[in-house]
This record gives sequence, C-alpha cells and structure tokens, in this order.
Amino acid sequence: MIPLDDMVVFPGMSVTLPVDVGTDNRVLLVPRHDGAWANVGVVAEVSEPVRVAGRKIAVSLMPVQRAIPGAAASDADGVLRVDVEVRPDTVPAPTLTRELEREYRAVVDEILELRGDDGRLRTFVRSITEPGALADTAGYSPELNFGEKRQLLETLDVVERLKLALQLQRERLAELQVRKRIRDEVEDGAQKRQREYFLRRQMDAIRKELGENEGTLVEEYRGKIANAGMPEAVLQQAERECARLERMEDSNAESAMIRTYLDWLLAVPWAKRSEERLDPVQARQVLDADHEGLDDVKRRITEYLAVRKLRTERGMTDDRRSGVILTLIGPPGTGKTSIGESIARATGRKFVRMSLGGVRDEAEIRGHRRTYIGALPGRLVRALRDAGTMNPVIMLDEVDKIGADWRGDPSAALLEVLDPAQNHAFRDHYLDVELDLSHVLFVATANVAETIPAPLFDRMEVIRFDGYTTDEKVAIARGHLWPRQVERNGLRAEEVTLDEAALRLAVTDYTREAGVRQLERELGTLLRKTATEIASAAKQVPVVIDTAAVRAALGRPRFFHEAAVRTAVPGVATGLAVTEVGGDVLFVEAASMPGQGGLVLTGQLGDVMKESARIALTYVKSHASDLRIDEHALDGRELHVHVPAGAIPKDGPSAGITMVTAIASLLTRRPVKSTIGMTGEVTLQGHVLPIGGLKQKVLAAHAAGLTEVIIPERNEPDLNDVPSEVRDHMRFHVVGTVDRVLELALEPAALAMAA
Ligand SMILES: Nc1ncnc2c1ncn2[C@@H]1O[C@H](COP(=O)(O)OP(=O)(O)OP(=O)(O)O)[C@@H](O)[C@H]1O
Ligand SMILES: [Mg+2]
Repeated sequence: MIPLDDMVVFPGMSVTLPVDVGTDNRVLLVPRHDGAWANVGVVAEVSEPVRVAGRKIAVSLMPVQRAIPGAAASDADGVLRVDVEVRPDTVPAPTLTRELEREYRAVVDEILELRGDDGRLRTFVRSITEPGALADTAGYSPELNFGEKRQLLETLDVVERLKLALQLQRERLAELQVRKRIRDEVEDGAQKRQREYFLRRQMDAIRKELGENEGTLVEEYRGKIANAGMPEAVLQQAERECARLERMEDSNAESAMIRTYLDWLLAVPWAKRSEERLDPVQARQVLDADHEGLDDVKRRITEYLAVRKLRTERGMTDDRRSGVILTLIGPPGTGKTSIGESIARATGRKFVRMSLGGVRDEAEIRGHRRTYIGALPGRLVRALRDAGTMNPVIMLDEVDKIGADWRGDPSAALLEVLDPAQNHAFRDHYLDVELDLSHVLFVATANVAETIPAPLFDRMEVIRFDGYTTDEKVAIARGHLWPRQVERNGLRAEEVTLDEAALRLAVTDYTREAGVRQLERELGTLLRKTATEIASAAKQVPVVIDTAAVRAALGRPRFFHEAAVRTAVPGVATGLAVTEVGGDVLFVEAASMPGQGGLVLTGQLGDVMKESARIALTYVKSHASDLRIDEHALDGRELHVHVPAGAIPKDGPSAGITMVTAIASLLTRRPVKSTIGMTGEVTLQGHVLPIGGLKQKVLAAHAAGLTEVIIPERNEPDLNDVPSEVRDHMRFHVVGTVDRVLELALEPAALAMAA
C-alpha cells in the first residue's frame, strides 16, 4: 500500500511516483491527509520504472479499479502489505444513468467552453462511455479540493457517484460563469472608460482649436450666480437653467439660448445699490452748479428730495403709494434731460436715459417671451444693466411720443413700471422673474402734456419748463454754453471773449427758440471760426468777438421784427400759440374773393381750430353793424382764412380772438396794430375764455418783438409766472369780451382811410 499525501487518483488516471516498488507489479494507492486515510483506494498496475543514471528512482503507475483496504502489516523489508477488497464499477442500468450522463456531459461541455478548451478535452470526455469512468473525469478538475475528490473516490455506487460529480461540476460551472461575468464587466468598464477618455481628449482638442473652453462653463455660471446676490426665487430659476444647460450638449442650439438667458440674468445688478444722498441743501448746490435759473424747478426737486429724506429717516419707506414720478414738461433745449442728470448727481445715483420716442411695441418695454427666436429683455432690464445698480435715476425721455398699435400698448407696461404699488414686482417677459424697481427714481420728460396717455399723466408730478427769456439765455450762455463750446473747440478761456452786446445779438437775431440748443450751436459756429483764425495765425490772441464779428460769422439775421411787415395790410392778426417747440407767434390771415359765399380754411387746422374760425365769422357777421361793417360786404364773396406756416399742423381754440380780429380787420379795412399779440378763446356771444401756456406765449411774444399782449381776464393770475424782466417790458390788456379786443387791436378807422 502506498499513501498518497494530499492527492487523489482515479482509475484510468496514470501517475508517476518517486517510490521503489521492488518486484511488485500491483499496488494499492490510498489518499491520506493529515494522517487520516481515505476509506477507498485504487489498485494500480506498475507499468515501468523510471530510471535516472541507471538507478530506479520512480515508477509510473496506472490505476485500474477501486478497492477497499483491509488488514495491513509491514513485512521484513518494511513494505506495507494490505488485504484488498476490489470494487470494480458495476455497470448500472442505462435508464438510471442516461439522463445524468447527458446532463453531466452538457455541464462539462459548458465548462470547457468557458475555459477556452481547444477541443481535445472534449473529445477525451466524449470517448468515455462508462458512467463510472465518466463521473471520475471530474477528478481532473483543478478546482476540486481534496475533500471533494476523496468523497468522489469513496462513492462506490456509480449512480450516486455520477450525481455527486454532476453536482460538483455544476458548482464549478456557476463559479466559472460568475467569474467570467465579473471579468467581462471589468473589461467592459475599462474599455468604456478608455473610450470615453479618448473621446474627451478629442473634444478638448477640438475646443481648444475653436478657442472655446466650455468644460468649466456650467461651473463658471454657477460661480457667478452664487455671487450675484439674486433674490431666492431668481436664484432658483438660475439654478434650474444651469441644470438644463448641464444636461445639454454644447452644440445644441438651445444651449446657446440658455447661455444668453443666463448672461442676461447675471447682467441685472441684483445686489448692487448706490449709496443714496438725500441732503436737500447739498442737492440744491449741485443743481445750481449745473443749471442757471430754473428756480422753480430746482425748488420742486429739492422739496421732493427733502420729503424722501424725511420718509427714510422716519422709517416710512415702505409705503408703496408714496412715490411720485417727477415729470418735466417743456419745449426742446430747456434743460430737462440735463437736469435729470443733475438729479442723479445730486443724489449720488447712476443715471440712464431711456428714449421712448416712437416706441409702439409693448415688448420694447417688457421684452419678448423666450419662445420667440432672438428674444431679448425689454428696455428696463437693459437700463438696469447699463446703470449697474438697482437704484439709478431712469429718465423716461419723450413719454409724450409713445404710441400704441396692434403690438400692444407700451404705456400699459409703463404704467406698471411707474406705479409704486406694483413696480416692486415687475416682470420682464424675457427674464420671467420678478424685478424690484421700487428703488428706481423715475423721471419722465415730455414736450407737451396733451399727448401723454391720460392714465400715465395722472400719476405724474408735473414740473413745467416754459422756456427762457433773453436775459436768462444770456446768463446760461455765459455760465455754461460758452465755456463748454470754448473748450470743445480747443480754445482756452482767456484766448477769446464775447462782449455782452454781441451775445445778445446772437440770442435775439439768430435764434428764436424756447430753449438754448440753437444758441449753443450758433456759439459753436462762432468759436469754430475763431479757432480757425487763431490756428491759421490770422488773428492774435486774445480775440474779442463783438457784434460786427457775430454778424460776419453768422451771416444775415435769421429773425427780425416780422409782425410789422405782416400786419401792414388789413386782414392779418398776430396770435400766440404753444407748439411742441414752445411758445410761438402765428399770423392769422383773412382774405375775400368773388364766390358762392362760405368759408375756406387752410394751414392744416385741426377740427377745434376750424370751428373757432366758423365761430369767428358768425360773430363778426352778427355784429356787423356794431363794427360798422357793410352788411353786404360778403355778398357774392367767399372768405378764406389761412394760418401759416402751412406745413405745421395746428389745433386748439386759443386762436379764437385772433381770427375774429383778422376777419374784422379785413372787413373794416382797419389794419391790426403791429405791436400787439393776442390769445384767447371766443364764444358766439363774444366772451373771451381762458387759455393755457400763458407764460410760454408771452415769452414768444417778447422774443418776436411785440410789446402788447391781449389776454383773457381769467388768465390774469398767470402773469405772475412771467419773469419780471419780460413783464416790465410789455403791456398786458386783460379782456373779457371780444369787442374790447377789437377796440384795442385795430388801428383807428380814420388812419385806415388815410392808408
Ligand atoms: N438752465 C440751464 N442752465 C445750463 N444749461 C442749460 C440750461 N438749460 C438748458 N441747458 C443746456 O442746454 C442743452 C439742451 O438741454 P437738454 O438736452 O436738457 O434739453 P431738453 O429739455 O431735454 O430738450 P428735448 O426736449 O429736446 O429733449 C444742454 O446742453 C443743457 O446743458
Ligand atoms: Mg431731452
């Protein structure tokens, strides 16, 4: 008997052992582990000795069948001899083993498949037909441990052994399968990672080539958003968009849209505010430094600031109804826009101008919804972006020129913006988040009040700019326009002076405007000329500009005393009007010609003005005898009333008395006094009704060289608004009825006869 330490052999499995078997040709091989013997061994035949250098050192053995060892004893040579009960496999009925065999072969096939057998082992297994021997092939498996192999050896019953072998092989198969799956997965993952890595590298290279660096784009946005100080709701919206952006491929068109959106969201200065200065005294100083005159305007603005200051100091800031919109109304060039800038400067806020002229689309104010291609936020968001703070002064320039059409009413959007009760939660269509506009100081400007949409006008605190007198213009020119133009034309203050008479001449003969824009241009022209002369050494500094120099530089006077010429013939009366550009004089002309009777009106008159003309005619006709007009003067004649300039549309009732005067002048053949201007609405009974814009009209009359003005009784208090320098140079006739107007305006009849 030969012990097999930690090793099991089965019949048919040849082994070579380093033992000397002497002359014996059969041995019993019994597995042994830790001194414990198996109950079954195998009988093996000694096939041949292995010799090395002539010495037998090992033998090759071929096990043939199982055997159970019996009594054992060592002989004299120390060889262990044993009684053996051989147990060759009994061949069981095929019905018992067929299924098991088939199953076993299938499992083994699969195992061999998994282990990548080249076919030889499979052929070997197929060549074994005995069920017992088939079961024993399990013994070749390197995965079976000693215990399992021993158990297999000790199972003498062939069917049992086959079952056992099948079970062991199944376990092995399962194990192999799991192992393969794990290996596959590991391999797969590795491959995927490798692929990804490769693609990413490529992508990076492409981006670098395109000059983009988007790998960190979303992070970059996140960082900016975190620092933007957005309100909670906005922050959430921004983060949602970020998340969307992250999920999206960069090439996606929508990702560009999201980025634009995020850029706009970040452009709003959510957390930035200017430190507001509310000191009225200091504000007044700033306003005074920037603007000449405008006392009333400055006072109103300082009052406004004083009220704000008190409210803030007393913790009353939260009443949303307390805000009013300062609205500056007046003719062009009177300093509305520039005083708006001064307000910003005086209060330490940023200033942005938002021109509303010609805005007809609500989306201009509120933005387009994001579903539109190329959608953008509205002007308010853009204004905030430009300001860079949430509490700038936003100037709504030209509110009188917004229109409305099928695209929606921009004034409705403006209403919401301006309404202190709503504007803390203004919603731009594009951004679609709430914006707090309640800290913005809105200042609106307009040339005329009439065309401002009524609901808007209702919320405004109006400050009127009526235009400047000659003296005021001279002062503005001295203090602001002249120094500015001197510098702009590359000159130094001491190099050029403008004498007083010359400046006055520039104001009176070269400009006729309520504001000072034209005047500034004329001064620019003067200085350009001077600069040229100095630069070309044609003149020595310092240069003094006198009246002659003004005439030489500016050419023929552009305005002169027109009224004298125009009213030289009967039928022309000088009226006073207020237009977009301020007060103005206008001449109402009347003429008659043969015809069917009736009235022709020209000069782009509005309906109200046309009716004024009819009322005037009716009044004159019905008072013909009082006026000593021939009752038949208009028989077979047509009357024509024209109001130049023909190209400018005009309307309003305030030319009423002027029309009466013109018609009466024509029919009485008495000319109108050339020094007199008039304004007033007329009724059929001949009452004179009050009109608006008195100050502007008087200023215009003064500028046009008129010295007398006829005004309605009820406008008398308005004379207080007229600057004294103008008032002192003019005579005012306060009238209640139109017959009094005619008395004052028409030259005496005798004189007319003489003429
Ligand atoms: N009282 C003033 N003192 C100093 N400068 C003045 C004064 N009034 C007007 N100006 C100057 O006149 C120029 C024109 O004024 P501005 O542009 O503010 O006019 P505006 O009233 O806004 O006219 P528009 O109705 O045409 O917009 C500005 O350069 C302004 O500085
Ligand atoms: Mg302006």
